[in-house]
Amino acid sequence: MAYARALLKLSGEALMGQKPYGIDPSIVKSIAKDVSEVIAKGTQLAIVVGGGNIFRGLKGSADGMDRATADYVGMLATVMNAISLQDGLESAGVPTRVQTAIEMKEIAEPYIRRRAMRHLEKGRVVVFGGGCGNPFFTTDTTAALRAAEINADVVFKATKVDGVYDRDPKQFPNAVRYENLTFQEVLSRELEVMDSTAIALCKDNNIPIVVFDLFEPGNISKAVAGESVGSRIGHPN
Ligand code: GTP
Repeated sequence: MAYARALLKLSGEALMGQKPYGIDPSIVKSIAKDVSEVIAKGTQLAIVVGGGNIFRGLKGSADGMDRATADYVGMLATVMNAISLQDGLESAGVPTRVQTAIEMKEIAEPYIRRRAMRHLEKGRVVVFGGGCGNPFFTTDTTAALRAAEINADVVFKATKVDGVYDRDPKQFPNAVRYENLTFQEVLSRELEVMDSTAIALCKDNNIPIVVFDLFEPGNISKAVAGESVGSRIGHPN
């Protein structure tokens, strides 16, 4: 079953590609191509982007910065990514609007829920920048929150790994990938797929999460079409 409206969470780190910092234009191009195919098929798509390729709030606070201040710097990093993504998407012919949780009107629209939904109805991609505008919340939690707000059918977490494993697959070559998981399993086993606030929000609002490898071209289209990619987290059947 194809999804009618999806929220795609892109990690900032994913935008780096092979680079040590910043944005790899070839990755943005490949994401834009995937997204243009999704939009052409009629699925409405909103995107929440992280900022870890530029600045990570948690790291800043570990290095001695005040946590709230570090989180604000992280939010600004996500705005840079959102605008870069908009540029890449529009170059690929996908009409895109950026809305920021913290108002910076000269750069982008402020976040207005009903306006975001209207953009989606018109076939535009909406990229949400600035996290949810509050420190101490991750962009994963923002993805879950915005998905609930815009009545999305699913959250796609496109990342560097191809799903959820029982152990770290980089450290343990025999780690097993789950195809289906329940929200409760993710929470009780403390599987590091998304933070617990994000999982709990999706659980309470019954929004399934699909975790898949962003670098496999065509994966976004497959996930939107409801094909089996990566791992799916939901309520037990
Ligand atoms: P419709 O009203 O549905 O036609 O949507 P639209 O986004 O095409 O029209 P609108 O006239 O609202 O916006 C035109 C352009 O200005 C779009 O690229 C918007 O993203 C941008 N825009 C709208 N509001 C703001 C704002 O507050 N700040 C900035 N920087 N851009 C804005």
